Amino acid sequence: MKIIAFAGSNSSKSINKKLATYASSLFKNAEVEILDLRDYQAPLFSVDIEKEIGQAKEALAFLEKLKSADMLVISLAENNGNYSTAFKNIFDWCSRIEKDVFQKKPTLLMATSPGGRGGKSVLEIAQTNLPRFGVDIKAIFSLPSFNDNFDVENNTISNQELDKELKEIVANLEF
Ligand SMILES: Cc1cc2nc3c(=O)[nH]c(=O)nc-3n(C[C@H](O)[C@H](O)[C@H](O)COP(=O)(O)O)c2cc1C
Repeated sequence: MKIIAFAGSNSSKSINKKLATYASSLFKNAEVEILDLRDYQAPLFSVDIEKEIGQAKEALAFLEKLKSADMLVISLAENNGNYSTAFKNIFDWCSRIEKDVFQKKPTLLMATSPGGRGGKSVLEIAQTNLPRFGVDIKAIFSLPSFNDNFDVENNTISNQELDKELKEIVANLEF
C-alpha cells in the first residue's frame, strides 16, 4: 500500500507535517511518501496567469503524486478558520485540470493547531468541501494544543488517550 501524506501548509516547521508524518508511520507494511507543499508552490492562482501559462507544472506534478497513492494522509493547517493559502492555491490550480482532484482516494483527514480547538474549523470546512473534489474521507482526527500533546523530539503524540485514538483509527484503515 502506498501512502501519500502531506500537510496543508507551506511552513518549513509545519506542525501538521509532523502529525501527518507520525500518523503515516503507524501504518504497517506501507510505503510512505511525504510531500511538502513548498515543492508545489505555483503562482498565486489568477485566471489571467492561467491564460498566460496554461496548466501550472506544480499542479500537474501534484496530481501525479496523488494518482500514485492507495491512501492519502492529510493534515490541514488552520488559518483564520480556513485552509492555508498554500493548500488552497495548489487545490485551485489542480481543480482547473481535473475536478476530481483527490481521485477518490481513501483519506485520513486530520488537523492540528497550537490552540485548544485543534483545527476544528478547517476540518468542518474540509469535511463538507473536499468530498466534492474526490476525497473519500475514511476517518477524521484532530490534535488540539499541539505543543502540549506532541513530543517533537521523539516525533510522537505524547498524550496517551489521543495517541490511542489515532492508533485505533489507523488499525481500522489498514488493508
Ligand atoms: C494567518 C494565520 C491565521 C491563523 N489562524 C488560526 C485559526 O484560525 N485557528 C487556529 O487554531 N490557529 C490559527 N493559526 C495558528 C496556526 O494553527 C499555527 O500557525 C500552526 O502552526 C499552523 O500549522 P502549520 O505549522 O502546519 O503551518 C493561524 C496562524 C496564522 C499565521
